[in-house]
Amino acid sequence: MKLNRCAKEAMDDLEAFFIKANSELLARGAPPGEGARVVSWSLADDVIYVEIASEGPIRAHDALLRVKNGIGKELGKKHRMGVRKSSVDVYEIAFSVDYPPMEVVTIPFAASVSFNGTECTLRLENVDEVFLRENYIDRMISLIRDKTAGQHYMGKGEYWKEIWRSPRRETLYQNDPTEEMVERKWIKQGPTKGKWFLRPEITKLMRIMERIAIEEVLAPVGFQEVIASHVVPFDIWIKTGHMGGSPNEFYYVSEPATRDPSAWETFSDLVKITRKVPYEELGKCLSGPRAGICYAQCPVIYWSFTNETLADDSLPVLLFERTANSGRYESGGRHGMERVDEFHRIEPVYIGTKEQMLEIRENMLDRYKHVFNDILELEWRMARVTPFYMQQSGGFGLDDQGSNEEAEKSKGTIDFEAYMPYRGSREESEWLEFQNFSIVGDKYTRAFNIKSQTKELWSGCSGIGLERWSTAFLAQKGLSPDGWPAGFRERYGKMPPGLHLL
Ligand code: SER
Ligand code: ZN
Repeated sequence: MKLNRCAKEAMDDLEAFFIKANSELLARGAPPGEGARVVSWSLADDVIYVEIASEGPIRAHDALLRVKNGIGKELGKKHRMGVRKSSVDVYEIAFSVDYPPMEVVTIPFAASVSFNGTECTLRLENVDEVFLRENYIDRMISLIRDKTAGQHYMGKGEYWKEIWRSPRRETLYQNDPTEEMVERKWIKQGPTKGKWFLRPEITKLMRIMERIAIEEVLAPVGFQEVIASHVVPFDIWIKTGHMGGSPNEFYYVSEPATRDPSAWETFSDLVKITRKVPYEELGKCLSGPRAGICYAQCPVIYWSFTNETLADDSLPVLLFERTANSGRYESGGRHGMERVDEFHRIEPVYIGTKEQMLEIRENMLDRYKHVFNDILELEWRMARVTPFYMQQSGGFGLDDQGSNEEAEKSKGTIDFEAYMPYRGSREESEWLEFQNFSIVGDKYTRAFNIKSQTKELWSGCSGIGLERWSTAFLAQKGLSPDGWPAGFRERYGKMPPGLHLL
Protein backbone atom coordinates (compact mmCIF):
# COMPACT_ATOMS: atom_id res chain seq x y z
CA MET A 1 0.00 0.00 0.00
CA LYS A 2 1.51 3.25 -1.09
CA LEU A 3 0.91 6.01 1.43
CA ASN A 4 0.73 9.73 0.90
CA ARG A 5 3.83 10.18 3.06
CA CYS A 6 6.58 8.40 4.97
CA ALA A 7 5.02 6.64 7.98
CA LYS A 8 8.05 6.08 10.21
CA GLU A 9 6.65 8.28 12.96
CA ALA A 10 3.46 6.23 13.00
CA MET A 11 5.18 2.87 13.57
CA ASP A 12 3.68 2.33 17.03
CA ASP A 13 0.18 3.13 15.93
CA LEU A 14 0.54 0.88 12.89
CA GLU A 15 1.74 -1.93 15.13
CA ALA A 16 -1.34 -1.48 17.32
CA PHE A 17 -3.60 -1.21 14.28
CA PHE A 18 -2.44 -4.50 12.80
CA ILE A 19 -2.70 -6.38 16.09
CA LYS A 20 -6.24 -5.15 16.53
CA ALA A 21 -7.11 -5.72 12.88
CA ASN A 22 -6.78 -9.50 13.16
CA SER A 23 -9.20 -9.76 16.03
CA GLU A 24 -11.64 -7.06 14.96
CA LEU A 25 -11.53 -5.59 11.47
CA LEU A 26 -10.73 -8.86 9.69
CA ALA A 27 -12.90 -11.02 11.92
CA ARG A 28 -16.06 -9.05 11.40
CA GLY A 29 -18.78 -11.09 9.72
CA ALA A 30 -16.95 -14.42 10.03
CA PRO A 31 -17.54 -17.25 12.52
CA PRO A 32 -15.08 -17.13 15.44
CA GLY A 33 -11.57 -18.03 14.37
CA GLU A 34 -12.41 -17.90 10.65
CA GLY A 35 -11.57 -14.30 9.88
CA ALA A 36 -8.79 -13.25 7.54
CA ARG A 37 -5.37 -12.64 9.09
CA VAL A 38 -2.49 -10.30 8.48
CA VAL A 39 0.36 -12.79 8.65
CA SER A 40 3.14 -10.24 8.43
CA TRP A 41 3.67 -6.63 7.58
CA SER A 42 6.54 -4.21 7.21
CA LEU A 43 7.10 -0.59 6.45
CA ALA A 44 9.60 0.97 4.06
CA ASP A 45 9.24 4.75 4.04
CA ASP A 46 5.89 5.35 2.39
CA VAL A 47 5.05 1.78 1.46
CA ILE A 48 3.43 -0.83 3.71
CA TYR A 49 3.89 -4.45 2.68
CA VAL A 50 1.27 -6.85 3.99
CA GLU A 51 0.78 -10.55 3.71
CA ILE A 52 -2.80 -11.67 4.22
CA ALA A 53 -4.11 -15.19 4.61
CA SER A 54 -7.70 -16.32 4.66
CA GLU A 55 -9.51 -19.63 4.71
CA GLY A 56 -12.90 -18.40 5.80
CA PRO A 57 -15.59 -16.25 4.28
CA ILE A 58 -13.59 -12.99 4.37
CA ARG A 59 -11.73 -13.15 1.08
CA ALA A 60 -8.12 -12.04 1.12
CA HIS A 61 -8.82 -9.26 -1.36
CA ASP A 62 -11.76 -8.02 0.73
CA ALA A 63 -9.45 -8.10 3.75
CA LEU A 64 -6.93 -5.96 1.88
CA LEU A 65 -9.61 -3.38 1.13
CA ARG A 66 -10.66 -3.41 4.78
CA VAL A 67 -7.06 -2.85 5.89
CA LYS A 68 -6.64 -0.05 3.40
CA ASN A 69 -9.74 1.77 4.57
CA GLY A 70 -8.94 1.01 8.21
CA ILE A 71 -5.54 2.68 8.00
CA GLY A 72 -7.14 5.80 6.58
CA LYS A 73 -9.75 5.84 9.33
CA GLU A 74 -7.51 5.05 12.31
CA LEU A 75 -4.37 6.92 11.39
CA GLY A 76 -5.64 9.48 8.96
CA LYS A 77 -6.44 12.16 11.46
CA LYS A 78 -3.56 11.78 13.83
CA HIS A 79 -0.81 11.40 11.26
CA ARG A 80 -2.44 12.99 8.24
CA MET A 81 -1.90 9.67 6.59
CA GLY A 82 -3.80 7.63 4.05
CA VAL A 83 -3.29 4.91 1.45
CA ARG A 84 -2.99 6.34 -2.05
CA LYS A 85 -2.91 3.14 -3.97
CA SER A 86 -2.81 -0.55 -3.26
CA SER A 87 -1.65 -3.33 -5.48
CA VAL A 88 -1.01 -7.01 -5.09
CA ASP A 89 2.32 -8.56 -6.06
CA VAL A 90 1.17 -12.12 -5.61
CA TYR A 91 -2.26 -13.57 -4.96
CA GLU A 92 -2.37 -17.30 -4.48
CA ILE A 93 -5.75 -18.99 -4.23
CA ALA A 94 -6.23 -22.65 -3.37
CA PHE A 95 -9.57 -24.30 -3.93
CA SER A 96 -10.98 -27.61 -5.02
CA VAL A 97 -12.76 -28.49 -8.24
CA ASP A 98 -15.25 -31.29 -8.87
CA TYR A 99 -13.18 -33.06 -11.49
CA PRO A 100 -9.41 -33.33 -11.90
CA PRO A 101 -8.37 -31.65 -15.14
CA MET A 102 -7.71 -33.84 -18.16
CA GLU A 103 -5.70 -31.21 -20.00
CA VAL A 104 -3.84 -28.03 -19.19
CA VAL A 105 -6.20 -25.28 -18.02
CA THR A 106 -5.36 -21.69 -18.91
CA ILE A 107 -7.36 -18.55 -18.29
CA PRO A 108 -6.64 -14.86 -18.83
CA PHE A 109 -5.09 -12.86 -15.96
CA ALA A 110 -3.66 -15.97 -14.30
CA ALA A 111 0.11 -16.21 -13.92
CA SER A 112 -0.38 -19.93 -13.44
CA VAL A 113 -3.05 -22.53 -12.79
CA SER A 114 -1.76 -25.75 -11.29
CA PHE A 115 -3.40 -28.87 -9.94
CA ASN A 116 -2.78 -31.64 -7.52
CA GLY A 117 -5.71 -33.94 -8.26
CA THR A 118 -8.79 -31.85 -7.63
CA GLU A 119 -6.86 -29.25 -5.60
CA CYS A 120 -6.21 -26.19 -7.71
CA THR A 121 -3.78 -23.38 -7.06
CA LEU A 122 -4.41 -20.20 -8.98
CA ARG A 123 -1.64 -17.65 -8.92
CA LEU A 124 -2.01 -14.03 -9.92
CA GLU A 125 0.78 -11.51 -10.12
CA ASN A 126 0.72 -7.72 -10.17
CA VAL A 127 -2.98 -7.34 -9.67
CA ASP A 128 -4.46 -3.90 -9.33
CA GLU A 129 -7.20 -2.83 -7.00
CA VAL A 130 -9.96 -2.46 -9.59
CA PHE A 131 -9.44 -6.09 -10.48
CA LEU A 132 -9.95 -7.10 -6.85
CA ARG A 133 -12.88 -4.83 -6.30
CA GLU A 134 -14.79 -5.95 -9.41
CA ASN A 135 -14.61 -9.50 -8.14
CA TYR A 136 -12.92 -10.98 -11.17
CA ILE A 137 -11.36 -13.44 -8.73
CA ASP A 138 -14.57 -15.34 -8.03
CA ARG A 139 -15.39 -15.45 -11.71
CA MET A 140 -11.93 -16.80 -12.44
CA ILE A 141 -12.49 -19.56 -9.91
CA SER A 142 -15.89 -20.35 -11.46
CA LEU A 143 -14.31 -20.42 -14.89
CA ILE A 144 -11.64 -22.90 -13.81
CA ARG A 145 -14.33 -25.11 -12.21
CA ASP A 146 -16.24 -24.82 -15.42
CA LYS A 147 -13.35 -25.67 -17.70
CA THR A 148 -12.38 -28.75 -15.70
CA ALA A 149 -16.01 -29.90 -15.66
CA GLY A 150 -16.17 -29.19 -19.40
CA GLN A 151 -13.12 -31.38 -20.04
CA HIS A 152 -14.77 -34.11 -18.05
CA TYR A 153 -18.08 -33.95 -19.91
CA MET A 154 -16.47 -33.54 -23.32
CA GLY A 155 -16.38 -36.84 -25.11
CA LYS A 156 -19.05 -38.23 -22.80
CA GLY A 157 -21.57 -36.84 -25.24
CA GLU A 158 -24.42 -34.57 -24.40
CA TYR A 159 -26.85 -35.42 -21.67
CA TRP A 160 -29.84 -37.14 -23.30
CA LYS A 161 -32.69 -39.14 -21.82
CA GLU A 162 -35.81 -40.22 -23.64
CA ILE A 163 -39.04 -39.42 -21.80
CA TRP A 164 -41.75 -40.13 -24.35
CA ARG A 165 -42.12 -41.76 -27.76
CA SER A 166 -44.92 -41.67 -30.33
CA PRO A 167 -46.20 -44.82 -31.99
CA ARG A 168 -44.10 -46.08 -34.84
CA ARG A 169 -45.33 -44.98 -38.26
CA GLU A 170 -45.07 -46.62 -41.61
CA THR A 171 -42.15 -45.26 -43.66
CA LEU A 172 -43.66 -43.56 -46.72
CA TYR A 173 -40.61 -41.79 -48.08
CA GLN A 174 -36.89 -42.35 -47.91
CA ASN A 175 -35.20 -39.50 -49.75
CA ASP A 176 -33.49 -36.44 -48.41
CA PRO A 177 -36.23 -33.84 -48.86
CA THR A 178 -33.70 -31.03 -49.33
CA GLU A 179 -32.20 -32.77 -52.34
CA GLU A 180 -35.58 -33.34 -53.87
CA MET A 181 -36.65 -29.76 -53.23
CA VAL A 182 -33.49 -28.51 -54.96
CA GLU A 183 -34.24 -30.76 -57.93
CA ARG A 184 -37.82 -29.55 -58.12
CA LYS A 185 -36.60 -25.97 -57.72
CA TRP A 186 -38.68 -25.42 -54.60
CA ILE A 187 -35.56 -24.05 -52.93
CA LYS A 188 -32.33 -22.50 -54.06
CA GLN A 189 -29.15 -22.34 -52.04
CA GLY A 190 -27.72 -18.98 -51.13
CA PRO A 191 -27.12 -16.16 -51.78
CA THR A 192 -24.63 -16.64 -48.93
CA LYS A 193 -23.65 -19.91 -47.31
CA GLY A 194 -26.13 -21.69 -45.10
CA LYS A 195 -29.05 -19.66 -46.48
CA TRP A 196 -31.92 -20.62 -48.74
CA PHE A 197 -34.24 -18.86 -51.08
CA LEU A 198 -37.66 -20.44 -50.64
CA ARG A 199 -39.99 -20.56 -53.62
CA PRO A 200 -43.81 -20.60 -53.46
CA GLU A 201 -44.40 -24.32 -52.77
CA ILE A 202 -42.23 -24.54 -49.68
CA THR A 203 -42.98 -21.00 -48.57
CA LYS A 204 -46.62 -21.92 -48.43
CA LEU A 205 -45.77 -25.06 -46.49
CA MET A 206 -43.76 -23.08 -43.93
CA ARG A 207 -46.58 -20.58 -43.56
CA ILE A 208 -49.08 -23.39 -42.98
CA MET A 209 -46.75 -24.77 -40.30
CA GLU A 210 -46.66 -21.33 -38.74
CA ARG A 211 -50.45 -21.11 -38.82
CA ILE A 212 -50.80 -24.51 -37.22
CA ALA A 213 -48.40 -23.54 -34.44
CA ILE A 214 -50.31 -20.35 -33.73
CA GLU A 215 -53.85 -21.70 -34.11
CA GLU A 216 -53.34 -25.09 -32.50
CA VAL A 217 -50.77 -24.37 -29.80
CA LEU A 218 -50.23 -20.70 -28.98
CA ALA A 219 -53.69 -19.21 -29.29
CA PRO A 220 -55.44 -21.94 -27.27
CA VAL A 221 -52.89 -21.54 -24.45
CA GLY A 222 -53.39 -17.77 -24.50
CA PHE A 223 -50.23 -16.32 -26.06
CA GLN A 224 -50.16 -12.76 -27.43
CA GLU A 225 -47.92 -11.69 -30.28
CA VAL A 226 -45.08 -9.15 -30.04
CA ILE A 227 -42.50 -7.95 -32.56
CA ALA A 228 -38.86 -7.63 -31.48
CA SER A 229 -35.79 -6.10 -33.06
CA HIS A 230 -33.51 -8.50 -34.95
CA VAL A 231 -30.42 -6.63 -33.82
CA VAL A 232 -29.25 -7.60 -30.35
CA PRO A 233 -26.77 -5.37 -28.52
CA PHE A 234 -23.99 -7.12 -26.65
CA ASP A 235 -25.15 -6.04 -23.19
CA ILE A 236 -28.24 -8.23 -23.60
CA TRP A 237 -26.05 -11.23 -24.37
CA ILE A 238 -23.76 -10.43 -21.45
CA LYS A 239 -26.81 -10.79 -19.21
CA THR A 240 -28.02 -14.07 -20.76
CA GLY A 241 -24.53 -15.54 -20.90
CA HIS A 242 -24.53 -15.89 -24.70
CA MET A 243 -21.70 -13.41 -25.15
CA GLY A 244 -19.20 -15.63 -23.37
CA GLY A 245 -20.74 -18.92 -24.46
CA SER A 246 -21.54 -18.60 -28.15
CA PRO A 247 -19.41 -15.76 -29.60
CA ASN A 248 -18.24 -18.08 -32.39
CA GLU A 249 -21.79 -18.49 -33.68
CA PHE A 250 -22.99 -14.90 -33.95
CA TYR A 251 -23.44 -12.84 -37.05
CA TYR A 252 -21.97 -9.53 -35.96
CA VAL A 253 -23.49 -6.18 -36.85
CA SER A 254 -21.46 -3.05 -37.53
CA GLU A 255 -22.87 0.44 -37.91
CA PRO A 256 -21.37 3.09 -40.15
CA ALA A 257 -18.88 5.17 -38.18
CA THR A 258 -20.74 8.14 -39.60
CA ARG A 259 -23.52 8.78 -42.08
CA ASP A 260 -21.74 11.87 -43.40
CA PRO A 261 -21.41 11.19 -47.18
CA SER A 262 -18.04 12.94 -47.33
CA ALA A 263 -16.56 10.30 -45.03
CA TRP A 264 -17.78 7.67 -47.48
CA GLU A 265 -16.71 9.49 -50.65
CA THR A 266 -13.52 7.55 -51.28
CA PHE A 267 -15.35 4.29 -50.67
CA SER A 268 -18.14 5.23 -53.09
CA ASP A 269 -15.68 6.42 -55.74
CA LEU A 270 -13.69 3.20 -55.53
CA VAL A 271 -16.86 1.12 -55.91
CA LYS A 272 -17.97 3.15 -58.92
CA ILE A 273 -14.62 2.84 -60.65
CA THR A 274 -13.66 -0.74 -59.80
CA ARG A 275 -17.12 -2.30 -59.30
CA LYS A 276 -15.55 -4.11 -56.38
CA VAL A 277 -15.84 -3.60 -52.65
CA PRO A 278 -12.69 -1.94 -51.29
CA TYR A 279 -12.64 -3.80 -47.98
CA GLU A 280 -9.79 -1.87 -46.45
CA GLU A 281 -11.54 1.42 -47.10
CA LEU A 282 -14.79 -0.07 -45.79
CA GLY A 283 -13.05 -0.94 -42.54
CA LYS A 284 -12.21 2.73 -42.07
CA CYS A 285 -15.85 3.72 -42.50
CA LEU A 286 -17.35 1.28 -40.01
CA SER A 287 -17.60 1.18 -36.24
CA GLY A 288 -16.58 -2.09 -34.68
CA PRO A 289 -19.53 -4.43 -34.05
CA ARG A 290 -21.53 -3.70 -30.92
CA ALA A 291 -24.45 -6.02 -31.67
CA GLY A 292 -25.35 -9.20 -33.47
CA ILE A 293 -28.25 -10.63 -35.42
CA CYS A 294 -30.90 -12.36 -33.34
CA TYR A 295 -29.73 -15.77 -32.09
CA ALA A 296 -33.00 -16.58 -30.33
CA GLN A 297 -35.86 -14.20 -29.70
CA CYS A 298 -36.19 -14.71 -25.95
CA PRO A 299 -33.25 -12.49 -24.83
CA VAL A 300 -34.82 -9.40 -26.39
CA ILE A 301 -38.23 -10.28 -24.95
CA TYR A 302 -36.69 -10.49 -21.47
CA TRP A 303 -34.79 -7.26 -22.11
CA SER A 304 -38.13 -5.53 -22.81
CA PHE A 305 -39.07 -6.19 -19.16
CA THR A 306 -35.80 -4.95 -17.63
CA ASN A 307 -36.45 -3.58 -14.11
CA GLU A 308 -40.21 -3.89 -14.62
CA THR A 309 -42.69 -5.16 -12.08
CA LEU A 310 -45.37 -7.41 -13.52
CA ALA A 311 -48.78 -7.11 -11.90
CA ASP A 312 -49.78 -10.35 -10.17
CA ASP A 313 -53.06 -10.38 -12.07
CA SER A 314 -51.20 -10.34 -15.40
CA LEU A 315 -49.34 -13.56 -14.63
CA PRO A 316 -48.41 -15.69 -16.38
CA VAL A 317 -47.21 -13.38 -19.13
CA LEU A 318 -47.48 -15.31 -22.38
CA LEU A 319 -45.89 -13.80 -25.49
CA PHE A 320 -44.60 -15.04 -28.80
CA GLU A 321 -42.40 -13.52 -31.50
CA ARG A 322 -42.21 -14.71 -35.11
CA THR A 323 -40.62 -11.91 -37.13
CA ALA A 324 -36.99 -11.94 -36.00
CA ASN A 325 -35.07 -14.40 -38.13
CA SER A 326 -32.19 -16.05 -36.37
CA GLY A 327 -28.62 -16.07 -37.60
CA ARG A 328 -26.28 -18.76 -36.31
CA TYR A 329 -22.91 -19.35 -37.84
CA GLU A 330 -23.00 -23.14 -37.97
CA SER A 331 -19.81 -23.58 -39.94
CA GLY A 332 -19.21 -27.33 -40.36
CA GLY A 333 -22.63 -28.27 -39.07
CA ARG A 334 -24.77 -27.18 -42.00
CA HIS A 335 -27.00 -29.69 -43.67
CA GLY A 336 -29.78 -29.12 -46.15
CA MET A 337 -32.72 -27.05 -45.09
CA GLU A 338 -32.73 -28.53 -41.61
CA ARG A 339 -29.45 -27.10 -40.41
CA VAL A 340 -28.88 -23.62 -41.65
CA ASP A 341 -27.25 -20.32 -40.76
CA GLU A 342 -30.50 -18.41 -41.00
CA PHE A 343 -33.82 -19.73 -39.88
CA HIS A 344 -37.39 -18.84 -39.07
CA ARG A 345 -38.68 -19.65 -35.64
CA ILE A 346 -41.69 -18.75 -33.56
CA GLU A 347 -40.55 -18.31 -30.00
CA PRO A 348 -43.10 -18.29 -27.20
CA VAL A 349 -41.85 -16.96 -23.86
CA TYR A 350 -43.72 -17.51 -20.58
CA ILE A 351 -43.09 -15.68 -17.32
CA GLY A 352 -44.87 -16.47 -14.05
CA THR A 353 -44.67 -18.44 -10.84
CA LYS A 354 -43.07 -21.85 -10.76
CA GLU A 355 -46.51 -23.48 -10.52
CA GLN A 356 -47.72 -21.50 -13.51
CA MET A 357 -44.67 -22.59 -15.53
CA LEU A 358 -45.40 -26.24 -14.75
CA GLU A 359 -49.01 -25.78 -15.77
CA ILE A 360 -47.94 -24.10 -19.02
CA ARG A 361 -45.71 -27.06 -19.70
CA GLU A 362 -48.61 -29.49 -19.31
CA ASN A 363 -50.82 -27.40 -21.56
CA MET A 364 -48.23 -26.81 -24.24
CA LEU A 365 -47.01 -30.40 -24.33
CA ASP A 366 -50.64 -31.47 -24.79
CA ARG A 367 -51.12 -29.06 -27.65
CA TYR A 368 -47.80 -30.01 -29.27
CA LYS A 369 -48.74 -33.69 -29.04
CA HIS A 370 -52.02 -32.95 -30.73
CA VAL A 371 -50.23 -31.19 -33.61
CA PHE A 372 -47.51 -33.78 -34.13
CA ASN A 373 -49.75 -36.81 -33.60
CA ASP A 374 -53.06 -35.76 -35.11
CA ILE A 375 -52.24 -33.15 -37.75
CA LEU A 376 -48.70 -33.86 -38.95
CA GLU A 377 -48.84 -37.55 -37.94
CA LEU A 378 -45.14 -37.67 -37.21
CA GLU A 379 -43.02 -40.38 -35.68
CA TRP A 380 -41.25 -38.49 -32.94
CA ARG A 381 -39.99 -38.59 -29.36
CA MET A 382 -39.15 -36.29 -26.47
CA ALA A 383 -35.90 -36.32 -24.56
CA ARG A 384 -34.48 -34.37 -21.64
CA VAL A 385 -31.26 -32.75 -22.76
CA THR A 386 -28.65 -30.31 -21.47
CA PRO A 387 -30.63 -27.10 -20.95
CA PHE A 388 -30.23 -24.75 -23.90
CA TYR A 389 -29.22 -21.90 -21.60
CA MET A 390 -26.31 -23.92 -20.28
CA GLN A 391 -25.26 -25.02 -23.73
CA GLN A 392 -25.46 -21.51 -25.14
CA SER A 393 -23.72 -19.87 -22.19
CA GLY A 394 -21.00 -22.48 -22.48
CA GLY A 395 -21.31 -23.35 -18.83
CA PHE A 396 -21.29 -26.34 -16.56
CA GLY A 397 -20.40 -24.96 -13.13
CA LEU A 398 -21.03 -21.37 -14.20
CA ASP A 399 -24.70 -22.11 -14.04
CA ASP A 400 -25.52 -22.59 -10.41
CA GLN A 401 -28.92 -24.08 -11.00
CA GLY A 402 -28.38 -27.07 -13.21
CA SER A 403 -27.61 -29.91 -10.87
CA ASN A 404 -30.13 -30.04 -8.07
CA GLU A 405 -32.37 -33.03 -8.68
CA GLU A 406 -35.62 -31.53 -7.52
CA ALA A 407 -34.99 -28.54 -9.80
CA GLU A 408 -34.16 -30.92 -12.65
CA LYS A 409 -37.72 -32.19 -12.65
CA SER A 410 -39.13 -28.73 -13.18
CA LYS A 411 -36.34 -26.89 -14.98
CA GLY A 412 -34.45 -27.77 -18.10
CA THR A 413 -34.94 -28.42 -21.78
CA ILE A 414 -36.97 -31.06 -23.56
CA ASP A 415 -36.03 -31.70 -27.18
CA PHE A 416 -38.58 -32.95 -29.67
CA GLU A 417 -36.94 -35.22 -32.21
CA ALA A 418 -38.30 -36.66 -35.45
CA TYR A 419 -37.19 -39.81 -37.20
CA MET A 420 -35.61 -38.96 -40.57
CA PRO A 421 -35.90 -42.14 -42.69
CA TYR A 422 -33.32 -41.00 -45.26
CA ARG A 423 -30.65 -41.04 -42.56
CA GLY A 424 -30.98 -44.76 -41.83
CA SER A 425 -32.57 -47.01 -39.27
CA ARG A 426 -34.56 -45.74 -36.33
CA GLU A 427 -32.04 -47.17 -33.92
CA GLU A 428 -28.82 -45.99 -35.51
CA SER A 429 -29.56 -42.76 -37.27
CA GLU A 430 -29.64 -39.32 -35.73
CA TRP A 431 -33.16 -38.00 -35.31
CA LEU A 432 -33.81 -34.35 -36.06
CA GLU A 433 -34.36 -31.94 -33.19
CA PHE A 434 -37.31 -30.07 -34.63
CA GLN A 435 -38.47 -28.18 -31.58
CA ASN A 436 -37.72 -27.68 -27.91
CA PHE A 437 -39.41 -26.67 -24.69
CA SER A 438 -37.62 -25.18 -21.68
CA ILE A 439 -38.23 -23.87 -18.22
CA VAL A 440 -35.22 -21.84 -17.15
CA GLY A 441 -36.04 -21.15 -13.49
CA ASP A 442 -35.21 -17.61 -12.41
CA LYS A 443 -32.12 -17.32 -14.59
CA TYR A 444 -33.39 -14.65 -16.96
CA THR A 445 -35.92 -12.96 -14.68
CA ARG A 446 -33.00 -12.44 -12.29
CA ALA A 447 -30.59 -11.36 -15.03
CA PHE A 448 -32.98 -8.65 -16.24
CA ASN A 449 -34.39 -7.82 -12.79
CA ILE A 450 -37.97 -8.68 -13.73
CA LYS A 451 -40.16 -8.70 -10.61
CA SER A 452 -43.72 -9.41 -9.66
CA GLN A 453 -45.67 -7.73 -6.86
CA THR A 454 -45.38 -10.65 -4.48
CA LYS A 455 -44.14 -13.84 -6.05
CA GLU A 456 -40.86 -15.27 -7.24
CA LEU A 457 -40.78 -15.27 -11.03
CA TRP A 458 -39.66 -18.11 -13.22
CA SER A 459 -39.73 -18.21 -16.98
CA GLY A 460 -39.24 -20.37 -20.00
CA CYS A 461 -39.34 -20.48 -23.77
CA SER A 462 -39.95 -22.89 -26.60
CA GLY A 463 -38.36 -22.84 -30.03
CA ILE A 464 -40.69 -23.65 -32.91
CA GLY A 465 -38.35 -23.91 -35.87
CA LEU A 466 -40.32 -23.71 -39.09
CA GLU A 467 -37.56 -25.13 -41.30
CA ARG A 468 -37.27 -27.97 -38.80
CA TRP A 469 -41.01 -28.69 -38.64
CA SER A 470 -41.12 -28.62 -42.43
CA THR A 471 -38.13 -30.89 -43.07
CA ALA A 472 -39.21 -33.35 -40.38
CA PHE A 473 -42.63 -33.52 -42.03
CA LEU A 474 -41.32 -33.80 -45.59
CA ALA A 475 -38.69 -36.39 -44.64
CA GLN A 476 -41.47 -38.65 -43.35
CA LYS A 477 -44.28 -37.84 -45.77
CA GLY A 478 -42.54 -36.84 -49.00
CA LEU A 479 -43.16 -33.87 -51.27
CA SER A 480 -46.39 -35.03 -52.84
CA PRO A 481 -49.58 -33.81 -51.14
CA ASP A 482 -51.17 -37.19 -51.95
CA GLY A 483 -49.01 -38.71 -49.24
CA TRP A 484 -49.76 -36.05 -46.65
CA PRO A 485 -52.10 -36.65 -43.73
CA ALA A 486 -55.60 -35.32 -44.35
CA GLY A 487 -55.41 -32.71 -41.58
CA PHE A 488 -52.37 -31.11 -43.15
CA ARG A 489 -53.48 -31.53 -46.75
CA GLU A 490 -56.72 -29.72 -46.02
CA ARG A 491 -54.93 -26.81 -44.43
CA TYR A 492 -52.40 -26.62 -47.26
CA GLY A 493 -55.06 -26.61 -49.97
CA LYS A 494 -53.94 -26.40 -53.57
CA MET A 495 -50.27 -26.47 -54.50
CA PRO A 496 -49.32 -22.99 -55.77
CA PRO A 497 -48.55 -22.87 -59.51
CA GLY A 498 -44.88 -22.24 -58.70
CA LEU A 499 -42.38 -21.22 -61.38
CA HIS A 500 -41.53 -22.70 -64.70
CA LEU A 501 -37.80 -22.15 -65.20
CA LEU A 502 -36.18 -23.18 -68.46
N1 SER B 1 -34.12 -19.95 -26.85
C1 SER B 1 -34.34 -21.32 -27.09
C2 SER B 1 -33.17 -21.94 -27.81
O1 SER B 1 -32.30 -21.23 -28.26
C3 SER B 1 -35.59 -21.55 -27.90
O2 SER B 1 -35.43 -21.09 -29.20
O3 SER B 1 -33.10 -23.13 -27.92
ZN1 ZN C 1 -35.47 -18.88 -25.79
